[in-house]
Amino acid sequence: MPPVPASSSSLDPLTERPVQPEPASVPARGGVFRWVPIRSLAERYRKRITTHLIALPPGDRYLRFGHTASDEQIANYVTGIDFDRDEVFGIFNRRLELVAVAHLAYERPPQLSSRPAMVEFGVSVLPQARGRGYGARLFEHAVMHARNRSTETLFIHALSENTAMLKIARNAGAKVVRDGSESEAWLTLPPDTLASQVEEMVETYAAEVNHRIMRHAMRLEHLFDAVNEVRAQFAKGAHVASE
Ligand SMILES: CC(C)(COP(=O)(O)OP(=O)(O)OC[C@H]1O[C@@H](n2cnc3c(N)ncnc32)[C@H](O)[C@@H]1OP(=O)(O)O)[C@@H](O)C(=O)NCCC(=O)NCCS
Repeated sequence: MPPVPASSSSLDPLTERPVQPEPASVPARGGVFRWVPIRSLAERYRKRITTHLIALPPGDRYLRFGHTASDEQIANYVTGIDFDRDEVFGIFNRRLELVAVAHLAYERPPQLSSRPAMVEFGVSVLPQARGRGYGARLFEHAVMHARNRSTETLFIHALSENTAMLKIARNAGAKVVRDGSESEAWLTLPPDTLASQVEEMVETYAAEVNHRIMRHAMRLEHLFDAVNEVRAQFAKGAHVASE
């Protein structure tokens, strides 16, 4: 299906590309902005991405892949991710478990010259982490990443019954085209700006720092647990000796 052409008639004097409105930002829950650290996942995360996807129950696998993918099919899908071309983002919980993953799959070069550069978005959030805006945040982050790489169109293939996914797309201003049990959502991306480039840089850096702090905090927690264990053993030994 061809991408939706830009709808605006006014042109940016610098880029000569149609001026697009900024993508709608994700509505803050309860009216309060809550920053969610989103990390870019490198190739070394393949195993953890597989573990995340395999933790999805059958119904979610169906929504994510369009069929109830087996563990083996999921493993093959992750093996096939080209980390040089594509981008994978993740959200970790406090125990540093990967609770949400998004895959931005860039079309294999060369892209058709008659069609704007395009990228496909796929996402999954573990059931226990849903309803916190992670899906919408990953979408927003993917939009920022794609526009900063001069991508003009973001595309989602979803089942028509996938209310949550289609809501995320519609909220961001995507055009949803339904074809029976399947739907396609197309979002025309605005050109990048200095602000969008800086925003991505700052967000990426902040997410990395946050992850390192959480990793150190976890190590300290393990260390304190070990110290407490040793102290408890000593106390027990001293008690036995005094009897
Ligand atoms: C789709 C999915 C990623 C959404 O994740 P999430 O973190 O729970 O979504 P959010 O909390 O960001 O919610 C996004 C919007 O969807 C709405 N929503 C969430 N779950 C919903 C549901 N079950 N039914 C209807 N709307 C729902 C939210 O209210 C929110 O809309 P709002 O901002 O207008 O209030 C998650 O349900 C999932 O992983 N599903 C299985 C895999 C899948 O379907 N992937 C998409 C195909 S590529």
